[in-house]
Parts: sequence; structure tokens; C-alpha cells
Amino acid sequence: MRIKFPRLKSLLLMGSAATLACATVAHADQPTAQHSIAFDQYSFLVDGQRVYLWSGEFHPYRLPSPELWRDIFQKMKAAGFNTTSIYFSWGYHSPREGEYDFSGIRDMDRVLDEAQKAGIYVIARPGPYINAEVDSGGFPLWLTQKPVKNRSPDPDYLKLGDEWLTRIDRIIARHQLSDGRGSVVAYQIENEYYNGDDKGRDYIQHLRDKAKADGITVPLVGNHNDTFVSGKGAMDVTGWDYYPQGFDCSHPEHWNPAPDMAAHRHAGQPLFTAEFQGGAFDPWGGPGYAQCAKLINDRFANVFYKENIAAGATAQNFYMLYGGTSWGWQPIPQNYTSYDYGAAITEARQFEPKYFEDKRIGYLVTGLPALLKTDDLKPRAPDNPRLVEVARINPETGTQFHLLRHGDTTSSTVESTHIALSLKEGAFPRIPQQPGTAIRIDGRESKLLVADGKIGAATLVYSTSEMMTQASIGARDVGVLYGRAGSDGETALAFKAKPQVKVLEGQATSTWSRGILRINYQHHGLLRLLIEGGERPLLLLIGENSATDRIWRQETAQGPVLLLGSHLLRSARVDGETLALTGDGDADNHAELLAGHARSVTWNGAPVSPAPTASGTLAFDLPVPKPVTLPVLDHWTSREDQPEAGAAFDDRAWQQADLNVSSSITKPGSLPVLFADDYGFHTGNTWYRGHFSGKAGSVPSGIKLHVKSGGEAGAFSVWLNGHFLGSVTRNETGSFSFPANLVVAGDNVVSVLTVNMGHEEDYNSTGENRTARGIIAAVPLGAGADAIRWRLQGAVTGQDKLRGPYNLGGLHGEREGWPTSPDSAGWTATSLPADTTAPGIRWYRSDVTLDLPQGQDTSLSLAIKDPPGRHYRALIFVNGWQMGHYIADMGPQSRFPIPSTVLNGHGVNRIAIAVWKTDDTPGSLGVVSLVDEGSVTAPDFTAPGLAR
Ligand code: GAL
Repeated sequence: MRIKFPRLKSLLLMGSAATLACATVAHADQPTAQHSIAFDQYSFLVDGQRVYLWSGEFHPYRLPSPELWRDIFQKMKAAGFNTTSIYFSWGYHSPREGEYDFSGIRDMDRVLDEAQKAGIYVIARPGPYINAEVDSGGFPLWLTQKPVKNRSPDPDYLKLGDEWLTRIDRIIARHQLSDGRGSVVAYQIENEYYNGDDKGRDYIQHLRDKAKADGITVPLVGNHNDTFVSGKGAMDVTGWDYYPQGFDCSHPEHWNPAPDMAAHRHAGQPLFTAEFQGGAFDPWGGPGYAQCAKLINDRFANVFYKENIAAGATAQNFYMLYGGTSWGWQPIPQNYTSYDYGAAITEARQFEPKYFEDKRIGYLVTGLPALLKTDDLKPRAPDNPRLVEVARINPETGTQFHLLRHGDTTSSTVESTHIALSLKEGAFPRIPQQPGTAIRIDGRESKLLVADGKIGAATLVYSTSEMMTQASIGARDVGVLYGRAGSDGETALAFKAKPQVKVLEGQATSTWSRGILRINYQHHGLLRLLIEGGERPLLLLIGENSATDRIWRQETAQGPVLLLGSHLLRSARVDGETLALTGDGDADNHAELLAGHARSVTWNGAPVSPAPTASGTLAFDLPVPKPVTLPVLDHWTSREDQPEAGAAFDDRAWQQADLNVSSSITKPGSLPVLFADDYGFHTGNTWYRGHFSGKAGSVPSGIKLHVKSGGEAGAFSVWLNGHFLGSVTRNETGSFSFPANLVVAGDNVVSVLTVNMGHEEDYNSTGENRTARGIIAAVPLGAGADAIRWRLQGAVTGQDKLRGPYNLGGLHGEREGWPTSPDSAGWTATSLPADTTAPGIRWYRSDVTLDLPQGQDTSLSLAIKDPPGRHYRALIFVNGWQMGHYIADMGPQSRFPIPSTVLNGHGVNRIAIAVWKTDDTPGSLGVVSLVDEGSVTAPDFTAPGLAR
């Protein structure tokens, strides 16, 4: 069966299919079945059932631990996300032209399997260009040596791009939901491509044709805003790329107004925000990711994501949901190692408050099918003129959704209001009806209220509390509602006859009038009500916002389960008579289960003994984490590492600089060309050695250097015959004179240490990834000075097959394998902080034994602490993985999360830090320590795997 795109016509035949519950993702071990993926103006549909794509962006190349991919996908799923959007980075898989590697950490079959196993759909985004604040925007390093016209129909570019696509498409095609072999639900063409002229259209059409030829059968989507809506190259579903707050994390209180995405709707397509802001990136010297998490915080999610829902969006992807680490030399020059992004799941895999806000909204959109087919509804204005109401209605069920927010979405005032609703049960001119109460809208908060809806089989007339989720569980219906702590709540339900209301916990009053039960309360802790007398008993759980943080929902083959309590509920599976739960436990060990079918229950494989409670839940205790004791890192050896600076170093095996033309877009400032990329040195440090004769009369008096590292965070250092002449930081040019007493009669060597902070992205298709790195111009000073003859040596391409092309640069110790080598000759004991004055490169190493508690997921960072005023930079290797680039006098990053599979929690770890001191003032590497970012009891998904 081929994939169908029924669009409007055949959808009409689907009749009531549109009102069925959302489709869940088939598990990998279930028999394969083909699925239809369709869409109309309301939503995507899987097998005729409407589905809200509630999606989080994830980049496998930013988490070099396949074992932890499952952790991230399970954390997404637990927060109600049913979709992930994944970039595949061409350069990560292609160390050399024609070479492709999908092994180990690059196993993209595995990442797609893990998503499917977690019950997550995938929007696949293979580029060829991805931007993403990753080196060259994802283009391979070797493309810097190809003067092709990137992102265009240039046949030379297309040939190379197609080579990549052939390989990655083959993998993606193996995992398509349409073919019943995985959970890939959509495929994105290119990225943010806004060139809609003939050439741009030819290019995009080529990529469309290529995807089809490669067997891609899922809808082709884009984040090209309005560019490819119709005509040549048009997307099946066009998507929007929107970052309304921008990226200035220094002013996290500054908000821009929420955009109205309804203006960007296109006929016959669901409203899809392919990338909507989920955080922000931070530059070198920036305020740090804690500030980005404040800029794009839970209130941002609350106001902006709900605004999109009110605009009718039924597919929203948030960039990033888990940012991770731009480890090795993956960052672009502007950004540092962490790509935490201030995202809902932090780089160290912990939860930001936004995670819980995403969850509250996510549970609603994925658990309330009525939301998937809605039209605009004109509401009456609320009685507070500073507030605005935007409403939608499901034309089939009549369910209404009312968004209440400030007219000015940036406003911080706390407002109270009443609203008027016309509902099936009648007109309600003033809600809440209870005298002396009101709906409260805090500053930078909105409420999405449901009316004429369902809670299981019960009829919800309206609620001024927001709905998190509703379900029929066993013999009961269950609704979870919430509101800000201390605010009033009023919930009205319709019954045929007066029901009985039992307040099981908390305080509430109820009134009964003409078929409507009205319950009034304030949001405090978790109110529990049991309402009997309707079709089925109804358990209402009404929490203040934070009380819902620990309410989890998972689906099983026999219906949903809810867990009240635990740090995280990862999965729930019915296995015969047993309900097998997996999840994480913290210090609060109390959990209560609502499940229809459980005879016995296991938690992470161990049986638990649940006891019934008055609420009809099953209570049980979770294991609590054991304390984590971390070793003090006080055993270090060190070794100097700059033989290249010395006069005696033999550089005859090095590459001679002999090119007179370059592939770069940068014009050489002197010849021969000295650009590192032209000689195949693409990552990290590159050394240059320039020889000149000391023959009297032709000795240069100095040298003028222009060096491009890539922006503010770059640096270069210069030596003459082993004597340090100086460094240049935060600048590209410097002149160095050669003191006469250092010049010798024979061969003299000027050594220059440079660094490539990453290649530029190519956002505008101008070949910016080919901006030169290394020496741009080297001009000997002084009349009659002889030419300087240069050799250079940088990273050895393909040296580190396990970790891939970005792990190593060209320091001597990297070329020699010092991050992992067992030898200790030449290494001397040292203590930290180091008080060295000598400029240049020195390595520090420590072998550290860890004995972390078993059965726990412990997330550790490596931290460097310095007194101010130290001028050095450091590359941090853990067991050979370059997990951090630290710049003492720039920052802001000083804590580097190390994935728990790169780190061995139950054995010896090699920490190796290459320090480049850029001046001769006292003080080098500061105090290095391990930091516990969080430790919870957890299933063993971190079993030693591929990463080490
Ligand atoms: C988007 C782009 C992403 C990333 C993001 C900012 O527009 O598609 O790749 O660069 O901006 O983090």
C-alpha cells in the first residue's frame, strides 16, 4: 500500500473518524502494519484519526551516548510529547568525501528505534543544510575545500548533497510509519530556505524528487515560512520557524508580544509551527543558560504555546526540548560547548519548570481529541477590558476552548475577570457564578478553558480551572484540573439527577441547580473529589499548578494509567496480570496509582505492594536514592606540550604551504595560501612554523600576522626560536618584532599556534562555511626581508574513528593520543590550582575512580573554578571525549555535563585537560571538581554501551 494524502476529498469519507481518540505510536515489537498519514486544514491524521503533533527538538549528535537517547525520549513522552523533530548532521557522519559512518554514536537506525520504542513520532530533518549552531551548519568539514554553490541547483553541490541524502534517506525510509516500520511521520526538506526564485525552486524541487526517489513516502514538510506554499517545490505541509523573543538572554525580563500564528495559515494544511522557540542559544561571554531558561521560561510556554493553540495550531515543535552538548569542535564560532538552550530538559538531563508547563499543556492537546478539529468562535469580551478572550469550537462535538490572556501579552499585572459563555446547557452570562469569586490571570499567564467537553463519560459544562487530562480508568472517569495556587476555581458538570459529592481531600462546596452541579474551591495542594450518581463514578483531582508536576500519565494496551507521585514515570506496560512500571524516584517516595487492570504491579522490575486508599488509588513506596559521594580531584600530573614552538623541532614531515589558490571565500593576504582548511586541517588548533635565514641583511625585523579563528573567542600565540613573543585575543591581527638577540645565524623559526573556533554557518548560501581559518596573512617586516617558508600541522582527519571527525584538533598531545594513552613518562605530579607562569600548552591529567550508587541515574558535571584574572583556555577530555572548551577570561561556561555513558560511574576515568595559557602572568588551570547535577533511582538504561 502506498501512502495516501486524502486531503479534503477523501476526508469527507472518513466521517466520524476525526473524533476518535488520538493514535498512539506502534511499538517496535508489534507486528508491522502500514499506516496512512494524511492532513487537512485541521490537523494531521494517522489512519484517519486526528493527531496533535506535540513535538520537541532533539539532536542525536549533541548526546554522544546512544543509551541516553532512550532517557530523553522517555522524558519527552512522560511530558505528553508524542513527537520529536530530529536534525541529522551530514558532517557528523562524513569525515572525508565519499566516506559515511553510521556506527556507534552515529547509529541513526538506533535513534529512530529508540524514538519508536518510547512511543514518539519523528519529523526527520536531514538537510543537507541544517544551520543549528553547528559547524558549517551541518555541512561536512571537507566541504570547505569544495568551491561549490551551496544550497543551490549547482550540479556539483547537488551531486555531493545527494550522496549524503542517499545514505540518510535509506535509514529514514526504513523507519517510516507509512510503511509500518517505524515512527517517522514527516520529512523536512532543507532548512529555513527562503529563496523562492527560479533557482531556489529548482533546488527545493530537486530535494523533493530526491526524497521520493529514495522511498520517502511520509508528507514532505518545511520550516520555510511562506516561501514554498504553492508552485514548484511546494511543500505538502508548510511550517513556520518562529523565535518571538530573540536570543538576548541578558535581559530575560524583556518580552516581545506573542505572534498571531492564525495569520500564517494556508488552505488545506494544518497550522504547523515547525520550529517555535523553546529556549535560546548563548554566545561566548554571554550571560549563561540559566538566563536563557528565564527568558524562555514556564510563563513563556504558558502564554505563547497556548496562543498558538488558540490560533488553531495542531502541530507544534519546540526548539530545543533537549539541547545537549556541542561537544568536540561542533560549535559555531559564536557559541560555546553547552547547547543547553535553556530548554525544558537541561543539558544534564534534569527538569526545568518549563518541562512541567509543557506537560500540563501537552497532556491536554494529546488527550482531548475535540481540540483537533476546531473553527474560530467569536466570544463575548471578558468584563475586564485589560484581558482578551480568543475562542475555538469543535464543529462536531460543540466543545469550546476559550483562551483568556492579557491584551498585551507582555503585561505583568494580575487581573481578575468574569466571562460569558453560551453553551449547550444554556447561557452563562457571568462565570464564575459564585459571588465574590473571579477568574484570576496573573502577569504573563494565560488560561485555556474547556467548555461543553467531556471528562471520560461525564459532561463538563465549563471549568475556570484548566484541564490537564481526562480519562476513563477501570470503572471510573478521572479528570485532572489545575490553577495557580490560591486562585478561585469553579467547575460545572451536567448530570441527569443530583449526584453525590464526596470531598476526599481538601475543601470545596457544591450547589445543584437545574441539572448542573457547580463546585467551588480554591487551588491549594491537590483537592480530591469523588462524584457518584452519573454514568460512572468521577474522580476529580484539582491541583495547584505545582501539584500536577508529579502527576504522570502513560498509555497501555489496556487503557491509560495515572501515577500521582515519583520523579518520573517513564513507561507502563501490561504484561499478563502485571502492570510493569518504570520510572525514577527521588527523596519523596510516595506514589499512588490509578489503573484499571492491575492485579500486581512492578516498579523497575521489582514487585511493589500497593495498598488501596480512600481515593480509590493504590499507594506504594518508591525506592529513594542513596547519597552520592564524589571523589576530590587532587591527584594530577602535568606535562608541557609545545615542541612545535622550539627551534629544534623537526617539522620536515609536516605539510608545506605551497598553494597559490584557495577554495575559501576569503582573499589570502599573502602568498602562499596559509589557510588551514586548504591543507585539510579543519578542527581545533593548527600549528604553523615559518623558517627564515639569519643571514645578515635579509633578516625580518618582525612579522605582521592576520589570523582568523572565528570571532571574539579566538586567539593566537607566537614564538621565535622557542621564545614567547605574545598572544592576540579578541582580535585578528598583531605585529611582533623579532628581538635581535633571539635571531640565530642559521635557520630561525617563527611558530604560530592558531585555533579554529568552528566554521560559519551558510545561512545566506554565500559559502560562508568557506571563510578561512588560520593565518590569512603573514608579512615579514623590514626592508629587504627574506620570504618566510611555512609548514603547518593540524588535526589528523579520521584519527578518532570511535568519536568522529570533531573530537580532536591538532595539538601535539592530541596527535599523540594523550587524552587516553597509558604512558606516564614525562608527566610530573602537580597540584591545582596551578601557579605556572609559562605561556603555551600544558596538559593536566588525573585518573579518577568512581563508585556511584547502583540502580541510580546520576548526572555529573566537571567544573573548573578560577580566581579572576587568569588568561588561559582549556580543552576538557573525559575518557578521550572532548566534552568542554573553557575560556577563563571569557566564559560564561565553567561547568561541563558529562553524559553518564562517557563517564564510567563504576570504575576508572581519565580526565585530561589541555591548557593553553595565552600570557605569562602567574596562574594557570584552577580547581577542577565533579559536581552532582541530580541523582534519582532509575531503571538501568545507562548500562555500559557504545560510548566508551
Ligand atoms: C532556526 C534554525 C535552527 C537554529 C535556530 C536558532 O531558525 O532553523 O537551525 O539555528 O534557528 O537556534
